[in-house]
Amino acid sequence: MISSKLSEQLNTQIGLEQYSSNLYLQMSAWCESEGLTGCAGFMRKHADEEMEHMQRLFQYVVDTGARANIGAIPAPRSDFKDIKDVFETTLAHEETITTAINSLVATAFEEKDFSTFHFLQWYVAEQHEEEGLFKNILDRIRIIGTDGTGLFMIDQEVGRLGQASPAEKA
Ligand code: FEO
Repeated sequence: MISSKLSEQLNTQIGLEQYSSNLYLQMSAWCESEGLTGCAGFMRKHADEEMEHMQRLFQYVVDTGARANIGAIPAPRSDFKDIKDVFETTLAHEETITTAINSLVATAFEEKDFSTFHFLQWYVAEQHEEEGLFKNILDRIRIIGTDGTGLFMIDQEVGRLGQASPAEKA
């Protein structure tokens, strides 16, 4: 059993994870249109991961006996200045998701709902990993640059990260 406040907050998070999935899928379309197939593959894979995050939350809410609700999902941004803009947007977005997860964890703790608190630890670790991953990519963009050959190298490098296991991404 979970409180109505917590179920509402979990449902909001379901919407946020669905939005994340849509945002990354939309970013993959932008990358494709720019000929950045490595980045497009990376974003598409990441969109799938976000869908899994959404479904994991959905299942948890259902398992507690509460009702999972998928609310309205706003349209994601579809245009970007360049690949640096894409990854800066991604990192900023993940930082807002981390804040939302932290707020959920705080509510679970305040309510002494240790089952939900425990469940959410997976998301805490995931956010740490994702922020690190996107900071890492932005560092590479900064070091390699995105002029001519640099952009080609970035696309190859990000494409490789998209295929790596989480442990290899760091
Ligand atoms: Fe599900 Fe990228 O946070």
